[in-house]
Amino acid sequence: MRTPAQTSHALTVRSAATHSSTSAASVTSADPTAVGPTHTPATAPSRRLVLASGAAAAVLGASPLLTGTAAAGDAYPFRLGVASGDPTPDGVVLWTRIAPDPVAADGLGGLTASTRTTVEWELATDETFRTIVRRGSVTTDSSVGHSVHIELSGLRPDAWYAYRFRVGSHVSPVGRTRTAPAPTSDRPARIGVVSCAQWEHGFFTAYRHLADEAPDMVLHLGDYIYEHGPGGYPVKSGVARRMVGAEIHTLADYRRRHALYKTDADLQALHATAPWVVVFDDHEIDNDWAAEYHEVFGRTPAFLERRAAGFRAYWENMPLRRTSVPTADGIHLYRRLTWGRMATFHMLDTRQYRSDQTGWVGPVPATYDTRRTMLGSTQEAWLDEGLRSSGARWDVLGQQVMVAQYDMMAGPGFMTNQDAWDGYVAAKDRLLTSIERSGARNPLVLTGDVHESFASDLWRTTDSGRTTIASELVTTSVTSGGDSKDSAFTGDADNPHMRYHETTRGYLRLDLAADALTGTFRAVDRVSTMGGAVRTDATFRLSDGVRGLQNA
Ligand SMILES: [Fe+2]
Repeated sequence: MRTPAQTSHALTVRSAATHSSTSAASVTSADPTAVGPTHTPATAPSRRLVLASGAAAAVLGASPLLTGTAAAGDAYPFRLGVASGDPTPDGVVLWTRIAPDPVAADGLGGLTASTRTTVEWELATDETFRTIVRRGSVTTDSSVGHSVHIELSGLRPDAWYAYRFRVGSHVSPVGRTRTAPAPTSDRPARIGVVSCAQWEHGFFTAYRHLADEAPDMVLHLGDYIYEHGPGGYPVKSGVARRMVGAEIHTLADYRRRHALYKTDADLQALHATAPWVVVFDDHEIDNDWAAEYHEVFGRTPAFLERRAAGFRAYWENMPLRRTSVPTADGIHLYRRLTWGRMATFHMLDTRQYRSDQTGWVGPVPATYDTRRTMLGSTQEAWLDEGLRSSGARWDVLGQQVMVAQYDMMAGPGFMTNQDAWDGYVAAKDRLLTSIERSGARNPLVLTGDVHESFASDLWRTTDSGRTTIASELVTTSVTSGGDSKDSAFTGDADNPHMRYHETTRGYLRLDLAADALTGTFRAVDRVSTMGGAVRTDATFRLSDGVRGLQNA
């Protein structure tokens, strides 16, 4: 908003499934002072995981089965933590990145272009790693930014696991992850929804509070990083912490910026708590980019190169599957995940295939041009088919920019944000038609981008009346915009379909059950200093089979 990839050789995984307790379990009596990590990261995850990490490290360090060779020297290599993502009923992706010196200017995290690192990994059913169900070893190098992506399959559905990595004598923090429920399951879910974390605007306290709520899964709707240099995006509450490095343009820059973010303890804690499902928005590349167009300079070789660097670093630093490895055609991010019969998550990409913006504000005549697209025709057809065939109780569209019409001009006059769906009116109409005709039982749109919370119903108004097609919950920013302020929204005559609008920082918690979906707007009171408190600002409910938000 305004306010060359190749991986295969480096990612060959030699996996040894054990399916049972291994000899690692037999060494739990090993002297923990003689083994284990040589460094406990200051940025370790939650207390529970720190404790588990210490105990687990003792076990792993003593295991005769693990004989890793360190290529990273003596410095602790896991300073970026661990992550997991994209759960299916039988698998999940495990992630880490080797970076003993995270913000080294060349983006290589303290390693060199020729460094090769052997990384061992383990997956267990418990955080003490008593019962290890998978283990393996992978070699990583600079062709993938020294990242590690382990794609697991053949796991039990609806199951929690613990995982960790090792390089030489160094053991990573322990992460918790899970598989999705089986296709026939009616398992409820708690989903965290977050977006927009500008580093200088504040501390990632919202991530920490969300981790404490033990979500089953986290949806990140974009602006995971911001591209600015120091002071490049000023806000009233000032600079909470200084950005490292100037505005990012090169692959080295993007790798370094992702590494800076991943050193954050609160971000690491949330990654280690549950699998994430991520999609980017604009700031992972550059403000308000659209397809191959830079916001100011349009389509230039320099921007295409910059975009490719941003795509590449995004894949390297996120727990994404091989299907999202960038190619000459871009990065494939839109995808679908299921949660038993309870929910289908349609994760969309509203940046890479859209028509260029018509400007900042509108409407202008081009706003209504039926040839203009937000999703691109291929993704549009994919979404339409996915909504028709879903069969889930809740169909959740996870995407970036606001769908609900938002007249930003109080009183007479009409002014809309041309970067949002309001700037693509025909495409929005096709989206609502697709949802309406699909037979989706309970559709819900989730949105980020605007650094404010909204709860709206999506109406189609015709001469014969008004139909509620779906509802939209917009999660506010984690930090972007700086310290919270309450706007005391009491309704707006210009936007009667909006039930709630607030300017506090925070996150959205979704609780999905058979009879209802509950969306809880959680607000942190400040971000410019650490330790902000969290509270519930508002709660809305959707009842099964009933269109329109209700107060809960
Ligand atoms: Fe943002």
